Amino acid sequence: MNRPRFAAVILAAGEGTRFNSAIPKVLHEIAGQPMIRHMLEALRPLAPAATVVVLGQGMEAAARAVAPAPTVIQSPPRGTGDAVRASRPLLAECLARGDIDDVLVLYGDTPLLRSESIAELIDARRRSPAVAVAVAGFRPADPAPYGRLVEGRNGGLSRIVEARDADPEERAIGLCNGGMMAIAARHAFALLDRIGNDNQQREFYLTDIVAIARSDALACRVAELPAEELLGVNTRAELAAAEAVMQQRLRRRAMERGATLVAPETVFLCADTELGRDVVVEPNVVFGPGVKVADNVRIRSFSHLEGAEIAAGAIVGPFARLRPGAVLEADVHVGNFVEIKATRLGAGVKASHLSYLGDSDIGAGTNIGAGTITCNYDGFNKFRTIIGEHAFIGSNTALVAPVSVGDGAYVATGSVVTADVPADALTIARARQIDKPGRARELRARLQGKNG
Ligand code: UD1
Ligand code: MG
Repeated sequence: MNRPRFAAVILAAGEGTRFNSAIPKVLHEIAGQPMIRHMLEALRPLAPAATVVVLGQGMEAAARAVAPAPTVIQSPPRGTGDAVRASRPLLAECLARGDIDDVLVLYGDTPLLRSESIAELIDARRRSPAVAVAVAGFRPADPAPYGRLVEGRNGGLSRIVEARDADPEERAIGLCNGGMMAIAARHAFALLDRIGNDNQQREFYLTDIVAIARSDALACRVAELPAEELLGVNTRAELAAAEAVMQQRLRRRAMERGATLVAPETVFLCADTELGRDVVVEPNVVFGPGVKVADNVRIRSFSHLEGAEIAAGAIVGPFARLRPGAVLEADVHVGNFVEIKATRLGAGVKASHLSYLGDSDIGAGTNIGAGTITCNYDGFNKFRTIIGEHAFIGSNTALVAPVSVGDGAYVATGSVVTADVPADALTIARARQIDKPGRARELRARLQGKNG
C-alpha cells in the first residue's frame, strides 16, 4: 500500500535561554545521544519524504549532529512560526511535486516522542473529515509553562494560547500544546505567512496557525497523546526528568529482550546499548555509547563500559572499566580495577585484578597477572603491545611498548619488559634478590643502641 507521505520540520533554532548553556540546547544528551537525534530516530521508521532541521546562527555542531538531514538557518530566532517559514526553500520541491500530504512540525526539545505517537498525529490530521491542522495535546502534571488548547463547542480546536498571553480562565485549562503539529501541505505555507507577532514576546508563534485556519473556516483538531512523551525540555531539571523517563524505557526494553537487570533503577543505559539474551547486569553499572554485549555475559557491579564489544560467556567486573575499542572475545574474565582501552582480549583471556591494558592485542588463553600495566604512552606517542596465545604475564609486570611477547612465553613477576620476548621463553626482567644473613638483627641492635 502506498501511504501518502509527509515532510518533517524540526525546530531547533531557539536560544534555549532557560538552559543557561554555551552549547545549543538540542545537543544536550539524553541516554548518551543529543536530544535532537532521538527525534530523528523516532521519525526514521515513518520514512518522511524530507526532513529539515531549523537551526540558529553558529550552530555548526548541531548541523553535524543531525547529518545527513539538511539544515536551514533561522536568524535571528523570531519565534516558532518564523522558524517553520524558514524551512520553505528546502521543501519547495516536494511541495511543488505535490507528493506530500502533510508538513509535520516537531520541536527539537521534546525528545521522548515515539514513532507510534507521531504516526497517530498524522492519522488524526487525515482522518475523515480531514482537518487543516492537527495538534498534539497532552495533560502534564504541571501545565504552567505550556500553551493551552482552547476547544470549540463541537470538539474541534479553536485556538492555542501561550501561557504568557492566557487569561485566568484559559490558564485553568489542563489540555496543553505538546509541540507537534501536522498541517495539510496544501494550506501550510499560506497559513504560516499570515502569522503575526502581536503578543507579549513580539514573536511569531506557530501556535497562531490554528486561529488563522479557523478564521478561514478550516477545521483543526487535537490528538491527545501520552503526557510522558511530550515533556518539553527547557531547563536542566527537565533534562534530568527526561533522562529518567528514557532510562526506564531502555531498561524495560533490555529486560524484554532477555537481559536480567538485578536492580534496574541503578543501571544506566545508552540509546544504542545492545544486551544479548541471558545477560545479567548487577546493580550500579553504567553503559556509555557503543556497547554491544552478546548472550550469557555477566556484568558485575560498579563497572563502567563504553565503546566495548563483549562476546558470549564473558564476565566483567566488579569495578571494571572498559573504554572505546575494548574487544572481549568469548569467555574472557576481566576483574576488579582493570581498565581496558583499544585492546582485544582473545577467547578465555583472564585479567582478574588491577591492570591497565591499552593499545594491545592479547592472544587466546593468556593470563594477565595482577598489576600488569601496558606502558603505552611516552608523553608524545602511543605504542602497541602484542601478546601471543597461552602466555603468562606475572603479577606487577610493566610492558614498555612497543613490545611483544610470543605465544606460550612466561614473564616472571615484577618484570619490566623493554624488549620482545620470544615464544615459549621464560623471561625475568628484574633486579636479583640479595640476602645478607643476620644483617637485620645487627642493624636493629645498632639503631636501638643509638636511640636507647
Ligand atoms: C512551545 C509552544 C508551547 C508548547 C511548548 C511545548 C510556541 C509559541 N509555544 O513553547 O505552546 O506548549 O512549546 O513544549 O510555539 N525555536 C526555533 N526558533 C525560534 C523559537 C523556537 O527554532 O525562533 C525552537 C526551539 O529551539 C525549540 C522549539 O522551537 O526546539 C520550541 O521553542 P521553545 O522556546 O522551547 O518554546 P516553548 O516556550 O517551550
Ligand atoms: Mg520548549
